[in-house]
Amino acid sequence: MAPHALLIPLPAQGHINPMMQLAWKLVSHGFLITFLNSDSTHNRIHKANTLNSFFDNIRMISAPFEFPPLDSLEGIENRIESLIKGMGPSVIDKVIQEINAREEENKVTCIIADVWMCFGLQAVATLHELPLAAFHTALVSLFAIRYFSAHLVSLGILHSDGIPKEDKKTKYLPCMPALHSGDLPWLWAGEYMFRKGIRMGEEIKDIKWVLFNSFIEIEAPVVETLSKEVGVYPIGPLIPPEFLIDSRTSTKVLPSFRKTDTDCLQWLDKQCAHSVIYISFGSTGILSEKQLEELALGLEATQRPFLWVVRSDLMKGSEANLPVGFLEQVRDRGCIVSWAPQLEVLSHPSIACFVTHCGWNSVQESITMGVPMLCWPYFADQFLNRAYVVDVWKLGLPLNANSQGIIKQGEIVKGVEILQESEQGLEIREEAKKLKIIARDAVKDGGSSWNNFNLFVTAMKRQPN
Ligand code: UDX
Repeated sequence: MAPHALLIPLPAQGHINPMMQLAWKLVSHGFLITFLNSDSTHNRIHKANTLNSFFDNIRMISAPFEFPPLDSLEGIENRIESLIKGMGPSVIDKVIQEINAREEENKVTCIIADVWMCFGLQAVATLHELPLAAFHTALVSLFAIRYFSAHLVSLGILHSDGIPKEDKKTKYLPCMPALHSGDLPWLWAGEYMFRKGIRMGEEIKDIKWVLFNSFIEIEAPVVETLSKEVGVYPIGPLIPPEFLIDSRTSTKVLPSFRKTDTDCLQWLDKQCAHSVIYISFGSTGILSEKQLEELALGLEATQRPFLWVVRSDLMKGSEANLPVGFLEQVRDRGCIVSWAPQLEVLSHPSIACFVTHCGWNSVQESITMGVPMLCWPYFADQFLNRAYVVDVWKLGLPLNANSQGIIKQGEIVKGVEILQESEQGLEIREEAKKLKIIARDAVKDGGSSWNNFNLFVTAMKRQPN
């Protein structure tokens, strides 16, 4: 009887992608997969990806719960609370009962849930005598800073609402780089996120397997420290193996919330090697009209080719308003799409650098493809990721905003020129090449993530049905 994993993602693009990659990897190790979403997310994914081969191998089901995909930050607190309730333990219990009643031969043998979906889930797993693994889709350091934050309060470093007592760059944990107070991942959403992060840590502490979409080599001191408290298993990068072969001929595009525009790949084929600036703000980054204008003018002023993902909701409240005459000016060297096949783009030889909002998937994809970054974070873990990219791994440069919070066109031009033309840029590009190899080695036979994944898979296969 094949092992059968029930996967429960947080229904946001940046969380569903790595969960799908994990699903795909488990399938290649002989697992049956049931992938659970809320009704609305499930329908949206199917609508945008009618013919994707992902669905041939993975059973997508939905819980009877209307939860629009989390691709906006509006009312985030209420939405997370309603999600945790709407797809909470009693719903999961029912889903397992239904699957098991229907499939005598293929009962669920384990549960893998996003860390945000684990609240109260251990009781359900125990009831059904199933192992539960938590899946953290970002850096171990993100989990660690949340996990130890109550301790930071007790040391008097943070106020009880998570705000640092001193507004200066601080080494909050000895195993982590010094961070600006604004880099702390809860500050964008205030006390709610701070408290939720602490609760999450308490909940996860008792779960034996905590899988991370990261790899030990990039944050070894944190992995070592946290492993004394929690079952830490970094298994990333979870990027499908065919993307890790430079001379590959075909790839699969993972399903996403939006229709992917693959025509840009032919456009990239026509560009010179290492010449194109790729710009994307993930699924949630938002620009003001003024900021969008500065970015457009900055791209125009670089005089270089660029591929820019301008989502229909990139600008708050209206369609993205590009400056008058911009499209005319950049017609011969600019390509604009509403959603790109990002993995294919980043692995294309014409890409020179990535202007990124520093969502963890984007950063890890960029590392794995050896692409240097210009960092433009917005919220959540993105500032922490930037600290690692810029200060620790030396894979990129920050783009700095002026006193009005705007990243001016000159800053964009300067960043691109340093990366492409200067001695510092050369060093960054060399580091990017080195880390690309380390990332790929982590998932090769005998690599650190390969070992962790195999430990996990072996343990799950040993479970009695
Ligand atoms: C969110 C948070 O913003 C991020 O900080 C957190 O780490 C994960 O959840 P998101 O904003 O969507 O994620 O960014 P990111 O983590 O980079 O994930 C975006 C995913 O969408 C990536 O896997 C990327 O490859 C994909 N993508 C993005 C596309 O396939 N096409 C695009 O055009 C843009």
